[in-house]
Amino acid sequence: MEMSPALLNALEKSLADWPVKSLAEAVPKLSDRYRSGDPARNGTFTESLRDVAAYAAYRLPATYAAVSSALHAVFERRLDFTPHSLLDVGSGPGTGMWAALDVWPDIETITLLERDRHMASWGQALAASSPTPALSQAHWHAIDITRSWRENPSDLVMASYVLGELPESRQVPLVAALWEHTLEVLVLIEPGTPEGFKRIRKVRQTLIDRGANVVAPCPHQGTCPSDWCHFSERVARSRIHRQAKGASLAYEDEKFAYVALSRTPARPIAGRVVRHPEIGKGHIKLELCTPTGLTKRVVTRMDREAFRAARHLVWGNVFPPDPSPPS
Ligand SMILES: C[S@@+](CC[C@H](N)C(=O)[O-])C[C@H]1O[C@@H](n2cnc3c(N)ncnc32)[C@H](O)[C@@H]1O
Repeated sequence: MEMSPALLNALEKSLADWPVKSLAEAVPKLSDRYRSGDPARNGTFTESLRDVAAYAAYRLPATYAAVSSALHAVFERRLDFTPHSLLDVGSGPGTGMWAALDVWPDIETITLLERDRHMASWGQALAASSPTPALSQAHWHAIDITRSWRENPSDLVMASYVLGELPESRQVPLVAALWEHTLEVLVLIEPGTPEGFKRIRKVRQTLIDRGANVVAPCPHQGTCPSDWCHFSERVARSRIHRQAKGASLAYEDEKFAYVALSRTPARPIAGRVVRHPEIGKGHIKLELCTPTGLTKRVVTRMDREAFRAARHLVWGNVFPPDPSPPS
């Protein structure tokens, strides 16, 4: 998953003045915190602008890829959905709004709730360079989302890589507040760890119980049959990303779990590929989540149409493909 040229350009410019050595020094601390799943220490995610720059260098491309992938999945299931307003909660440097604008360029009004002032000021500076007014004029509010808050409801609401930052007792109340602020679609994204997935599974059920319709990734509204449903996006590492992380590979795989829910039912899904397909000689093995639960399917060359459709499948795709619209 590539970042849009506009974001890539803005990101490179914003990082240009930071010596790579200085960013590389900040990465291990952030990385440890990130992996530990600890809530924000001292009430803030970062301690300086350097921390934000390091976060942007080593995490922004990956969270962008995960958010983008989840939003594209929503786009596929809700072709009728054209959001004009977006609320991004725990927005960090605003990664989600860049990804959302790439999918839905008609978004005009963006509100971001972010209590970490370093994150917010860095994100504002990043967006200031954008020629898209929705980005450069986005409204940033320094709000603690674990307390009571109120904003104008938005067509699209999202919280990515945020729930795990909060005390467990605040996660369901936050999601309930997000749903109240959702005019149409709510997207929740977490790291693709077993813990990240458990949070997604829990809040998915909470919102189904409140009448929400699952848009993606699930092909049903029933109890989740999985004990670890997650997806993966390959992220190209820029030079600065590689250096800040001390990594040699030119890419990394970002694992994430997500759920998107809407007020209106979405196009039904016949099945979702929930592991990398295994391509053999003359056959493809698929693990699918379907409306009747998890299942394995082997598509052979003999089944020509299905084989043709399965050849280019990747983890996270829909299978069998949607029927063609009537001509
Ligand atoms: C891991 S970052 C994710 C940022 C962004 N959503 C993304 O996907 O890249 C989590 C963000 O949530 C923010 N956050 C955590 N707890 C918060 C709270 N109680 N109120 C507001 N923001 C919070 C942090 O400051 C941080 O910027």
